[in-house]
Amino acid sequence: MTSLSQLDTPAAIVDVARMHANIQRMRTRMNELGVRFRPHVKTSKCLPVVRAQWTAGAQGVTVSTLKEAEQFFAAGISDILYAVGMTPAKLPKVLALRRQGCQLKIIVDDPAVADAIATFGKTHGEVFEVWIEVDCDGHRSGIHPDDKDRLVDVARRLTGGGMLLGGVMTHAGSSYDLDTPEALEALAGQERAGCVQAAEHIRATGIACPGVSVGSTPTALRARNLVGVTEVRAGVYVFFDLVMHNIGVCRMDEIALSVLTTVIGHQVDKGWAIVDAGWMAMSRDRGTAKQRKDFGYGQVCAVDGTVLPGYLVSGANQEHGIISCENGPGGPDTQIGTRFPVGTQLRIIPNHACATGAQFPEYHALNGDGSTEIWPRFYGW
Ligand SMILES: Cc1ncc(COP(=O)(O)O)c(C=O)c1O
Repeated sequence: MTSLSQLDTPAAIVDVARMHANIQRMRTRMNELGVRFRPHVKTSKCLPVVRAQWTAGAQGVTVSTLKEAEQFFAAGISDILYAVGMTPAKLPKVLALRRQGCQLKIIVDDPAVADAIATFGKTHGEVFEVWIEVDCDGHRSGIHPDDKDRLVDVARRLTGGGMLLGGVMTHAGSSYDLDTPEALEALAGQERAGCVQAAEHIRATGIACPGVSVGSTPTALRARNLVGVTEVRAGVYVFFDLVMHNIGVCRMDEIALSVLTTVIGHQVDKGWAIVDAGWMAMSRDRGTAKQRKDFGYGQVCAVDGTVLPGYLVSGANQEHGIISCENGPGGPDTQIGTRFPVGTQLRIIPNHACATGAQFPEYHALNGDGSTEIWPRFYGW
């Protein structure tokens, strides 16, 4: 049995009990709302995590790279939505996966790309299943739900070109800028209404548009009703992180991912302890910087996961993290070496679980009895 004290640091730790509780919480939510759930697996990129999501009733997965699609298909998952806008250059990889039996769905918001998909599909005798991306909140990409002409134009180019329109999908990414239940509820309503409206515009022309897919962790957890929606996607809920904590959708003690690190030195005159988790371990993500509480590069915890209030990773070089106390004097701290002797193990809760996880080739899954096991994850495109 390998315990935390035997691990090389830095290391990414997944608290298995918290992860299962997070999965269960989302499952209960989805059951209450009466919708299917298609987890976004870009958060973990890890088969044991996704198996746990599937065991809890997930149907299909969402991926952000074709590499994820290849890996999860090889592991036996066939129903996959690649939820990043398609480009013609990626179609041969999509074709190869579909030829192997993968029910890979792709998305588009651009008429010229819709044409390119249809042409490529016809040339290769393949009927691609394509979903139209809808921009429900001005966050990033997609067609505005009011832009009926463009929605219908893209739908016609796909179906007229012999492709299958799977449905419409949207992601209310602007939920990350909110932090009250009322605002999140309102955005979840807007996400639902916009995506349903887009589907109705297309259906009104006689084109079948069966699927309506929405989701982000904050809106999934705060939606009041999902009438007209056929499936929800969410990713970061499986681990949660400090950004989600600031948004108000998880407690600190629900965050399942942390970075195990070791104290390697001190700067007594500055009140610093130095650890071996810099930005290569935590990632450069400073997502909490613009939120109600800035956690620097992460919240410091004791090795058993107990939060050490006020102690943050306030700075980060490539392999060095700087720990200081935000409530402290901000100058010399003669106690810092006693409080955190060299060799002390600590755990750091990250700002953004997806970004921090991506810094590591594997997770160390921490079981209730203190033992750990290695859960490989993959990366790349
Ligand atoms: C298209 C799409 N769907 C779903 C999600 C899941 O969002 P979250 O990680 O907030 O659950 C994302 C996340 O970026 C996304 O890009």
